[in-house]
Amino acid sequence: MTGSLVIAGLGPGSDALVTPEVSAALARASDVVGYIPYVARVAARPGLTLHASDNRVEIDRARQALGLARDGRRVVVVSSGDPGVFAMASAVFETIEAGPPAWRDLDIRVLPGITAMLAAAARAGAPLGHDFCAINLSDNLKPWGLIERRLRLAAKADFAMAFYNPRSRSRPDGFARTLDILNDACRDTRPVIFARAVSTAREQISVVPLPEARADMADMRTVVIVGSSATRIIARAGAPFVYTPRSVPA
Ligand SMILES: C[S@@+](CC[C@H](N)C(=O)[O-])C[C@H]1O[C@@H](n2cnc3c(N)ncnc32)[C@H](O)[C@@H]1O
Repeated sequence: MTGSLVIAGLGPGSDALVTPEVSAALARASDVVGYIPYVARVAARPGLTLHASDNRVEIDRARQALGLARDGRRVVVVSSGDPGVFAMASAVFETIEAGPPAWRDLDIRVLPGITAMLAAAARAGAPLGHDFCAINLSDNLKPWGLIERRLRLAAKADFAMAFYNPRSRSRPDGFARTLDILNDACRDTRPVIFARAVSTAREQISVVPLPEARADMADMRTVVIVGSSATRIIARAGAPFVYTPRSVPA
């Protein structure tokens, strides 16, 4: 029996933003494995077993998926957005590296998805049009000191920045600290985009100057984009366009 493992990104929320390649993999799957809200986005059908698990059990989930594939099942591990961006693809490879040699011979593919920062950037205009970086603000998997260091260096290098996992109930203070660091390092009024639940019915986009950004503008479902010093606003009726020019004068 030959099984397979596909690690797929479901995009930010809308069905219209699921790639045809991912839809085809889901249509062929015998098993879908993932975090509860992501598995809930996959329609049940005869012949498909859904394995939903809680957050923070990524390695167990990867092991389960690899075991099912080894047993000959056609397994799809689902993540939101892109599976390689703060998501399951790394967890699967970490598990393979530490696991039995037979897992390395499995048919394994990663299918990209539209990551939250790109969906959010498109809503606002083109804030990531020049050099940028993405930082996960959760300190569940890395020390907070490292996050602060990267924030200061990113501000010093004048990157636009996209922040994932800005704030949660168990981490109420980190994002306020992030804003303090950025205000201290940048000392200007560059735009900050708060993009919540992008591409879903609950989508909310707001743009504020950095000194007016407040921690309670973000939650678990928000991706935050902070412009570089060159990021510009085109005011108009309704929401402004936010963009970062492609070029920097020599
Ligand atoms: C664990 S990360 C997963 C990221 C995902 N793999 C991706 O590529 O978008 C979860 C974080 O992604 C961001 N996120 C995911 N979906 C979003 C959406 N529809 N709108 C805004 N932010 C989103 C939020 O910052 C959230 O805290």
